[in-house]
Amino acid sequence: MPSILITGANRGLGLEFAKQYSEDGWRVYGCCRDPEKADDLKTLADGSSGLITLHRVSIGDHASIESLADELKGHPIDILLNNAGTYGYVDFPDNGIEVQSFGKMDYESWSFVLAINTMAPLKMSEALIDNILASDQKKIFTISSTIGSIQDCEGMHYAYGSSKAAVNFLMASMAKDLRDQGVTVMPLHPGWVETGMGGETAPVQPEDSIAGLKKVMDNASLETSGQFIGFDGATIPW
Ligand SMILES: NC(=O)c1ccc[n+]([C@@H]2O[C@H](COP(=O)([O-])OP(=O)(O)OC[C@H]3O[C@@H](n4cnc5c(N)ncnc54)[C@H](OP(=O)(O)O)[C@@H]3O)[C@@H](O)[C@H]2O)c1
Repeated sequence: MPSILITGANRGLGLEFAKQYSEDGWRVYGCCRDPEKADDLKTLADGSSGLITLHRVSIGDHASIESLADELKGHPIDILLNNAGTYGYVDFPDNGIEVQSFGKMDYESWSFVLAINTMAPLKMSEALIDNILASDQKKIFTISSTIGSIQDCEGMHYAYGSSKAAVNFLMASMAKDLRDQGVTVMPLHPGWVETGMGGETAPVQPEDSIAGLKKVMDNASLETSGQFIGFDGATIPW
């Protein structure tokens, strides 16, 4: 039975990934920072005949990531999916869109966004590499965003955009560094999706985004490793 580990599995895109992969019969390690409060994921797990289990990890805390790796020692993981992410600036109005712009930058919050969106996917990959190497599929994906595309950027979003551009660099570099060990690595764009982050006016529904991304993830191979791909299968400019 193939297996997937999903960060941020308690809501939004992560929850939909857990739903669709478990419906396909995958073993799902559903990770979140507060399993006690993850009611929707618990309900999904209760109806999954044991396919979904909940695991605590606070991805901004490297000791917490290492504890998760200890807990999962010896369990092969076909797909590591770094999904959890933040626009950041939780203490500011409108998620702090104002303080992610030229002349108004809040640098302390920026370093928090980098810790969650950029450093955590690398740390998760390092901590769980033995699990990935022990699996059949050996794949690592990170949910990035076109907001991190340098070619397509429209200004603003300095913290979020730079964190996604930087994680794209890491995924492209890891694709090269892990190729000889047979590991496929890709940053992915989910579309603008109606979630807590995407907001109510987003044009794409989570079920459609994840159905598309699952096809992309299924087709991903060493030949396409290192590319930046959207939920519709299109290649996204760096
Ligand atoms: N929705 C979109 O339109 C869109 C577009 C492009 C890219 N993305 C990316 O897609 C991914 C999933 O986002 P979403 O749309 O599902 O957003 P969401 O509904 O806001 O969910 C975000 C998830 O990330 C977790 N998370 C946030 N901050 C965290 C932190 N500091 N430590 C640990 N976990 C944290 C949340 O956990 P808690 O519940 O504990 O906060 C939650 O599980 C993100 O990487 C995001 O950047 C989304």
